[in-house]
Amino acid sequence: MSWLRVHLRADCGQAENVSDALEQCGALAVTLEDAGDQPLFAGPGTEEPRLWAHTCLSALLPEDMEPSRFVAEVAALLGLDAPPAWESDSLPDQDWERAWMDRFTAMRFGINLWVSPSWLEPPPAPAVVVTLDPGLAFGTGTHATTALCLEWLAAGTRAQMDVLDFGCGSGILAIAALKLGARSAWAVDIDGGALSVTRENAQRNAVLDRIRIADPGSLPPDIDADIVVANILADPLVELAPRLRGLTRAGGILLLSGMLSGQVREIEQHYARYFDIEARVRDGWAMLVCRKFPRDC
Ligand SMILES: C[S@@+](CC[C@H](N)C(=O)[O-])C[C@H]1O[C@@H](n2cnc3c(N)ncnc32)[C@H](O)[C@@H]1O
Repeated sequence: MSWLRVHLRADCGQAENVSDALEQCGALAVTLEDAGDQPLFAGPGTEEPRLWAHTCLSALLPEDMEPSRFVAEVAALLGLDAPPAWESDSLPDQDWERAWMDRFTAMRFGINLWVSPSWLEPPPAPAVVVTLDPGLAFGTGTHATTALCLEWLAAGTRAQMDVLDFGCGSGILAIAALKLGARSAWAVDIDGGALSVTRENAQRNAVLDRIRIADPGSLPPDIDADIVVANILADPLVELAPRLRGLTRAGGILLLSGMLSGQVREIEQHYARYFDIEARVRDGWAMLVCRKFPRDC
């Protein structure tokens, strides 16, 4: 099996945003290289090397993904009028797996939660460790939108809580909540591949007996979760507002992630009537911590 790579260019000031958008739209990995044979330059007054003036970004995608659709989604997320120029090629399986294994290390979220790949020695107890390898579903903790959710869960998850992960990807958020002591979790996604990966990851982390994995249409209507987390893009967060509100118990928490910081105002408007909302921002991405009012008015 081989993989697809999509290459496009960005100016130095945009490269990080573009890289984030590539990941958010489904890239399994993004690499950045100089597009013009320039040395790395440091900006005035900075000690750290910065990105090149023109950067070539390469996004690794599953072989069956449609590259033109992918680029169009990235352009829409970045608010561009038209998709940027791009090229694609294919990459043999072994090469990217090796590259990932070399780059992927254990990461800590909050005080005690770790996400660690299976080929590394896990951090010692009392660390709470989610064992997760990069795979075909989004969610390893490297992206700011996932990291913001993991940090909140590390501090806010309590025993006896029931959790719902809406748009579970790899299952990272549901599995983390369970390992942090939650009583049960639902993990749902519109992508059947994500549901399979979530099942594998739940088994590897010994939480399969406490997680239910399903497509969103199979969720029982009477779910009343203590924590609902939805790390999806801005448009689905708006469309799903009535449903996500209904799935969160009165007084419970809804974490909304996957939006750019510039989209916070718009999304807040769809939730503010029912929730007390606080925004947390990282690397241009935002998460909303929404506490549902005690009575669903
Ligand atoms: C950005 S990934 C997040 C994965 C993981 N929860 C995390 O935080 O890293 C978004 C996931 O939401 C799923 N998704 C997108 N729209 C959805 C919808 N309307 N209902 C359920 N899942 C959806 C996608 O298939 C994808 O797996």
